[in-house]
Amino acid sequence: MPSDAKNAIAQMEKIVSLCKRRGFIYQSSEIYGGCGGVWDYGPLGAELKRNLRSAWWNTMTREREDVLGLDASILMNPAIWKASGHVDTFADLMRECSLTNKRVRADHVEPQEGVVMNYSGAKSPTGWKLARPISVLMKKGEHIESLRKRMRVLIASNAGEAAGKVEEIELLDEAKGDTLGKTVDFHPETGGALGEARPFNLMLKTYLGPTATEADVTYLRPETAQAIFAQFKNVFDSSRVKVPFGICQIGKAFRNEVTPKNFTFRSREFEQMELEFFIKPDEAVEIISGEVAQWHEGADLSEPQPNWGWQLWHRYWVDQRTKFYQGIGLGDVLEYYWQTPEDLAHYARACVDILCEFPFGTEELEGIAARGDFDLSAHQTASTKSQEIFDEELKTAAAKLSDEQKEALIQKRLAAEVAKTKGAPMPEAAVRAWFERLFKGSYVPHVIEPSAGLDRMALAVIAKAFHEEEKADVNGKVEIRTYLSFHPRIAPIKVGVFPLLKNKPELVAKAREVYAMLKKHMNCFYDETAAIGRRYARQDEVGTPFGVTIDFETCGEKGPELLDTVTLRHRDGGEQERVKISDLLGKLLPLVG
Ligand code: GAP
Repeated sequence: MPSDAKNAIAQMEKIVSLCKRRGFIYQSSEIYGGCGGVWDYGPLGAELKRNLRSAWWNTMTREREDVLGLDASILMNPAIWKASGHVDTFADLMRECSLTNKRVRADHVEPQEGVVMNYSGAKSPTGWKLARPISVLMKKGEHIESLRKRMRVLIASNAGEAAGKVEEIELLDEAKGDTLGKTVDFHPETGGALGEARPFNLMLKTYLGPTATEADVTYLRPETAQAIFAQFKNVFDSSRVKVPFGICQIGKAFRNEVTPKNFTFRSREFEQMELEFFIKPDEAVEIISGEVAQWHEGADLSEPQPNWGWQLWHRYWVDQRTKFYQGIGLGDVLEYYWQTPEDLAHYARACVDILCEFPFGTEELEGIAARGDFDLSAHQTASTKSQEIFDEELKTAAAKLSDEQKEALIQKRLAAEVAKTKGAPMPEAAVRAWFERLFKGSYVPHVIEPSAGLDRMALAVIAKAFHEEEKADVNGKVEIRTYLSFHPRIAPIKVGVFPLLKNKPELVAKAREVYAMLKKHMNCFYDETAAIGRRYARQDEVGTPFGVTIDFETCGEKGPELLDTVTLRHRDGGEQERVKISDLLGKLLPLVG
């Protein structure tokens, strides 16, 4: 294994261990051996997630006039997933191990080296038989005895009690096969030969209602976005908004990932934070504004403009989301992958993945897609309920166009349809019918979708914040200091409050007073145990950005000028300053808000 890969694994192990030790993230159902691909957030993880959620919610809706929130249900009418394409196409190509039936994503199998070992089957003294040939890869460096042992264990766990004792299982007619250089045809964990790649739908099925028949099947939502589309008309009609505007929501999503991996990065239950930002079709912008502004390097994206089409709106949201990540301390670990025309779905005009540096590689944190009117149109067709909106400004502007100007717009669109490289071009009659509605002021809005994962974001900020440094103690003994350098805005605990000594009632009483004052405004932690250095270290390890120490100066023992002042310690840099208790809140609130 290359040393980079070893370092990455070691780094992840340290992060996973810290997360468990300090109450950020635990394995779900750990006391029963865990539950694959699902995770629980402990006290500090819950606070961290809550802070990230609030930062996203505040930035995306509260601080904007053009985005509204939604909190939709996880279970929905399954017709939604049929219309959205999830029932038919939300699948990964997967391959199944012929030995254990364990699945793996076809694109997740790394090439392996080894010798193929073939068996005609297996049997045990209980009378149990496995009457089919088995091929398994003996990995380079693996001993034949350890392979046989491994196989017996795998066969036994698949066969259950019928196979009897593991060590009594007999592998039949062992024969050495080919030596393979780089093969992707064996399961990476079990070594069993893999079957053909087949699509595997990622949606988790459940039954709604008491009868549990096929007619009651529905799905745990695999994304939060579809509920936004399904409720688009209700929000539009009940909120007095005009296009462009957005609807956002945060909530759980479920995917039966074939190979959940990298801690919480790819889980089966996770939380999404999605915005569907509805915009006018470019043709409507052109009719109203006389032109559609074109994006160019250095274009001013600070304030949305009426002549923006989908391209500038898409760039704008990439810029907004980048600013968000900068605001939570991830600015310098981001990269962007602009999907190529081959990568894009037929309805998508552009999609950029915001990538982030994790110990295991640079991976997707958020996708921002320009999806045209695909989603709302699909629901309009499937539900037969109009998803069009009426735009008075468009109707007025269109009424001023000459017939030639209208025809020129139609011809431009027809040429674009012919030039399409993916998906069927819209027939001329349909294009003309669409323009007829448009000239009357009616259209199905288009959408830009920034879609982020909360659990990935939490992992990204933990990984970015994780630091180790060597530090000599007072006796010169070098120790490893582990600390999390969370941005104060998202840190689970904002301030640690410490009386210098716990056996001095006046210090403890004052510290309790300060703690009571601060905790109404931010999450604080009161700690009076152990030496003060040890208490600082404990808070550094969980990323608390500030520490407040109440000492004898606070009580006026070193002169009246220091009475009612405390030591404010900054985690990063370790500098300390003397601050009046009455100034503390005013100083801290802007730093943690
Ligand atoms: N509505 C679009 C959509 O769902 P996606 O790229 O499939 O797009 C968006 O998901 C985001 O959700 C991803 O960028 C990622 O942050 C998060 N996400 C997706 N699958 C995930 C999983 N299995 N575990 C954790 N987060 C996941």
